[in-house]
Amino acid sequence: MTGEVSTERLREIFAAGSKRYELRQLLGQGGVGAVFAAWDRDLDAEVAIKVLFPGILETEPLYVARFRQEVRIARKIKHENVAPIFDIAEAGELHFVSMELVPGETLAERLDRVGRLNEAATIPLLEQIARGIDAAHRAGVVHRDLKPQNVMLTPEGKVVLLDFGMARHLPSPQLTQTGFVTGTPAYMAPEQILEEPVDGRADVYAAAMVAWEALTGTLPFQRDTALATMEAQLDDPLPEKELEGARVSPELSAILVRCLQKKPADRIASGEVLANELRKLQRERHLTRPLSPMKAPAPRVRRRVLLADDEPGVRSEVAACLSKAGYDVDLARDGAQALERLHERQPDVLVLDEALPVMDGLDVLRVVKANAAMARLPIILLSGTTGRSHHAFALAAGATAVMDRPLDLNALLEAVART
Ligand SMILES: Nc1ncnc2c1ncn2[C@@H]1O[C@H](COP(=O)(O)OP(=O)(O)O)[C@@H](O)[C@H]1O
Ligand SMILES: [Mg+2]
Repeated sequence: MTGEVSTERLREIFAAGSKRYELRQLLGQGGVGAVFAAWDRDLDAEVAIKVLFPGILETEPLYVARFRQEVRIARKIKHENVAPIFDIAEAGELHFVSMELVPGETLAERLDRVGRLNEAATIPLLEQIARGIDAAHRAGVVHRDLKPQNVMLTPEGKVVLLDFGMARHLPSPQLTQTGFVTGTPAYMAPEQILEEPVDGRADVYAAAMVAWEALTGTLPFQRDTALATMEAQLDDPLPEKELEGARVSPELSAILVRCLQKKPADRIASGEVLANELRKLQRERHLTRPLSPMKAPAPRVRRRVLLADDEPGVRSEVAACLSKAGYDVDLARDGAQALERLHERQPDVLVLDEALPVMDGLDVLRVVKANAAMARLPIILLSGTTGRSHHAFALAAGATAVMDRPLDLNALLEAVART
């Protein structure tokens, strides 16, 4: 019955039943269906289409109607951290959902590649998950199946959650013996396992579990079977020591532990509260501990400008002006040092003198723009050569703005603020 159909067969049935969409590459396959990139001929746009395996919804006569209803509600969630759902329909005998095609990779894929994430990367990740689920809860939808496979990370570093509205009326492939419980046991809150009524706090629990996995590389209640995993969720104490072992700070550990309480009433009460606590933690960290114990710098509240100029007088004057305007300023005196500092300090903006020793500004610009990890860095070039064609040349090479010398400090501040 379910899960037996090959994705090629799904393609064929779908193509015979839908004129509107042209299925393209397979993006992935889960327990209930397969997801394809597709061309929407009516909208002239690329979308993602999740095709459910035949028979998935038909196991219970009411599933189809309930599933449709839940997806309709999920369509109302409008939030930058939630993938928009467009439509639910049928192609021949196949039920499918069309949604935004989110670029990037899933958190599951990222963790497969890099192993673990450090605390500085995990805090904003969890904050965005928390904001996304909060928007959904306000719209009346509980996700019920948050897991790294449903968390997309875009190339810009944004988190986009997938599959809201999908889990509730689909039988879980991992739990076909019971047929009712939906979700993935290792992330599932106790009340969901017990089939008690669930609310947003079940997602708060799962979100913290995702963060735990990202930080430690393990899931605290994962056991050999789904049943044993569920029993552990219900009965086993949370092994808090594992967080310490993974060098997670006491502050973040405390937040996670509060999300992972067995009783919903003991947990952090909502996605919003969780997001705000994480935001606060980031702020405090910046104020009291500028040097985070982790390798990567903690996310910053104040923006950081790297100023590369070889004239000490100009450097100190411009640096003073930028600090007064509230920026953190780093300095470099030649092109090579500028590149070194870029790697070390990861500034938000580069203010770059064109006539630098060792390696001139335009060369630095080219290196930065050719480097995938830095290409988006805004660069304000301070040019000694006036003239439209020279400016156009620098802009074409990737400069965000070009400013003439002698430098107008107010204009510079404006240009930095615009980036
Ligand atoms: N809207 C989407 N945009 C881009 N990729 C997607 C989208 N939805 C799903 N995917 C990809 O398809 C895979 C399979 O999705 P799914 O069928 O929900 O199973 P699972 O969530 O268990 O991985 C996901 O892991 C993801 O890589
Ligand atoms: Mg999914």
